[in-house]
Amino acid sequence: MSAGLTEAEAAAELERLAAEIAGHDRAYHEQDAPRISDADYDALVRRNRAIEAQFPHLVRDDSPSKRVGSAPAEGFAKSRHLAPMLSLDNAFADADFTEFAVRIRRFLSLSETEPLHFIAEPKIDGLSVNLLYERGRFVKGATRGDGIEGEDITANLRTLKDLPRQLRAPFPDLIEVRGEVFMDRADFVAFRAEQERALAQREARKTNGGKLGAAVTIPVNPRNAAAGSLRQLDASITAGRPLKLFAYAMGQASEIPVDTHEHWLDLLRRWGFSVNPLSTPVTDAAEFQRKMASERAALAYEIDGVVYKLNRLDWQQRLGFVGRAPRWAIAWKFPAEQTRTKLLRIEIQVGRTGALTPRAVMEPVFVGGVTVTHATLHNEDEIARKDIREGDTIILQRAGDVIPQVVEVVDKDRPGRGPPYVFPTICPACGSHAVREGEDVVRRCTGGLICPAQTVERLKHFASRGAMDIEGLGEENIEQLHAEGLVRSPADIFRLREHAARMRLWEGWGKGAKGETKKVANLLAAIEARRVVPLERFIFALGIRRIGAQNAKLLARHYQNIGTWRERMLEARIIGSEAREELGSIQGIGPSIATELVEFFAEAHNLQALDDLLRYVTPEDAAVLDAADSAFAGKALVFTGTLETLSRAEAEARAELLGAKVTKSVSKKTDFVVVGADAGSKAAKAAELGVRVLTEVEFRELAGIAAT
Ligand code: IVH
Repeated sequence: MSAGLTEAEAAAELERLAAEIAGHDRAYHEQDAPRISDADYDALVRRNRAIEAQFPHLVRDDSPSKRVGSAPAEGFAKSRHLAPMLSLDNAFADADFTEFAVRIRRFLSLSETEPLHFIAEPKIDGLSVNLLYERGRFVKGATRGDGIEGEDITANLRTLKDLPRQLRAPFPDLIEVRGEVFMDRADFVAFRAEQERALAQREARKTNGGKLGAAVTIPVNPRNAAAGSLRQLDASITAGRPLKLFAYAMGQASEIPVDTHEHWLDLLRRWGFSVNPLSTPVTDAAEFQRKMASERAALAYEIDGVVYKLNRLDWQQRLGFVGRAPRWAIAWKFPAEQTRTKLLRIEIQVGRTGALTPRAVMEPVFVGGVTVTHATLHNEDEIARKDIREGDTIILQRAGDVIPQVVEVVDKDRPGRGPPYVFPTICPACGSHAVREGEDVVRRCTGGLICPAQTVERLKHFASRGAMDIEGLGEENIEQLHAEGLVRSPADIFRLREHAARMRLWEGWGKGAKGETKKVANLLAAIEARRVVPLERFIFALGIRRIGAQNAKLLARHYQNIGTWRERMLEARIIGSEAREELGSIQGIGPSIATELVEFFAEAHNLQALDDLLRYVTPEDAAVLDAADSAFAGKALVFTGTLETLSRAEAEARAELLGAKVTKSVSKKTDFVVVGADAGSKAAKAAELGVRVLTEVEFRELAGIAAT
C-alpha cells in the first residue's frame, strides 16, 4: 500500500519501481523472456500508480505510467507508428468493470438510463502489430515496441496468410490497422516438439564436430513462440511458422469510414482481414466474462481475458486517453488458472548481486497451457508465511504467464509431514555467509568476489568502462575466459599474460580467417595500461554492493590512499571503534552503506581477493587539488548552521577538494568548525573543546573562494 509513505519514501519508491518495471519491460518485450508473472507485474504497475496518485508532483519523466512496452531491439530498422500504440487498463472483478462504466458516464455527462453498448473481444496473449496501408496496399508493418516506435518487420508480416496485401475497395488513402499475431495451442505443441528435435540434432552434431547451423531455442509458451517467429531476421523462417493474425483496432486514418466499433470489425472482414469470430456486442459484460471463462480451456488459442470497447466511435474520441490507456476500453482479466501438484524439493539459486532466490521443483503438471516443473517461491518470508515444506501437495497458479507461483499447501495436517523448511544462511554456491539486512526480504551471499555465481557478472563490472575500463575485455570475452578457467578473480586478469599462447589457439583470438588478428596482444596491452588507476575507480571496480561511482569517490576523497582505506575498513568491523565512527561520519555515507562495506571486509575471501589484486594494481592516491598549500589539507572540518553565500554541498565539496575531511560531529580531532547562521550545539561544543571556529567569510578566504 502507498498509505503512510513520507514524501521522501514515496520518491525513493517511485524511482525503484521505475527501474524495476523498465527491467521487466525489457525482459518481456526485447528478450521475450518475462521474469515475473503478469499478475506480479500488474501489481507493480498498480503500486506505482497508487503512489503517483497520492504524490502527483513526484511523477517521474521516466515513470512507467508514461511508457508503454519497451524500446526496439537491435537487428531491425526502427519504425515510428503514425498514431501511438497504447495499452489497456485492467479489470479483475465486477466492481472494476462497473467503475469503468461509471467513469465513462461521468466523463460524457450521460444519464443513468442512457445505454452503453460495448463490444467484447477475447484478449489473446500474442504480439500486437501495426499494419500501414496506403491506397489499400500493405506498405509497412511493425511490432509495438515502446508504443511510439517499434521494429520494422514488414517482410515477416507479408508471409502471414491472414494479412491482406491489398484491401478490397473502398478504403481510405491511408490507414493503420492493428491486430494480434499469435500461435494456436496445438500448433505451438507441434512446433515446440520440432524445435526440441532440432536441438537434439544440433547437440549431436556438436559432439561429432560437424557444422552447427543456426541456434535453436525452445519456446516456453505460444506467445513466446509467436514472438520468436515474428522477429526472425530471415523472413523465410517466419514463413514456415504457423502464425495467425486477428485484426481489431484502428491507428491513424486519413478518413474514418465507420461510426461504431462493430462496423469497424465488419469493415475489417470486408477488407480481407481475419477478425475473431467470438467478438460480439454485449449487454451484460459480467455474464459474458463468466461464459468466456468457462469456455476458455476449449479454445484453440490462449486468452487471458476479454477486452471491452465502447461501441460508439464519437464517444471514444471524446473520452480519449489517460496515461497509457484509453478511457473507452478495458481488459477484464481472468483469475489465474490453478492446479495441484507435489513439491519435490526447494532449491536455491544465487543471482548476480548474490541474492538467494528459492525455487520449487515440482512433479510436472499441465497448467495454463504449458507443462511446468518449477515455480517461484519469492523469498524466505513467503516460504515461512505459507509454511511450505518439501513433500507438500501444493496449489499452483499460472495466469497466462510464464513463472508459476505456489498459492498454498493443501495437506499441512498429513501424518509424517517433514520439518519446516530452513532457509540456508550459507551460500550454496560458495559457502560464504548469506545475510539479511534491515528490512530487506532478500538474503544475500557475502562472498562477493569469490562466489562463482556472482563472479562472472562482477568480473564484467570490474572491467567495464566506468570501473577499470579495460578495453577489449567486454562481456563475451569475460564469459569465455571464465568458462576456459583462466579468469576466476580480478587478479587473474593480470595474470593472463602467462596464458597468451593458449589464448592464441582459440577461434578468433589468434590467426583469424582474414589473417593475423592482434586480439590477444591488444588485450594484454590494455590490461597492462590499467596497472595504475585512480583510487576511486579501483574502489568502484570491486563491485561492493551500494558502492557506486559516487560513493567510491566519497571514500577515495576521504581515505585518499588504498592502504589507509583497507586498514580503516578492517578496523571498522568492530562496532563502536573509532574507524567505524569515522566511516559513519563521512557525508553521504549512510549506515546501510557502512554496513555493506564492513560486511565485505569481514569475509576473509574478499580480503584475499583484494590483496591478490593489489599485487598487480596500484591505485593512485586520491587527487587533492592545491592541497599542499591549503590550510585544510588533511584537516577535519565540520559545518554547522546555515551558510548564506554558499550551499552546504558546494562548501563541502570545496573543502574536500582542498584536502579536508568533512565530518558530521565535533570531537577533539576536529580542526575547524565552520559556523553559519543559527548554529546550535556543535558551535558550543567547538568552543568547549577549543576547536578553531571559522565564520563563513573566513572559510571563503581560506578556501580561496572569491568574495561575492
Ligand atoms: S486494443 C487502445 N484489443 O492487449 C487499444 N488489444 O494491453 C489498445 N490485445 O497491446 C489495444 N487482444 O497486444 C486490443 N482485442 C484486443 C486485444 C488487445 C489482445 C493486447 C494487445 C495490446 C494489449 C493491451
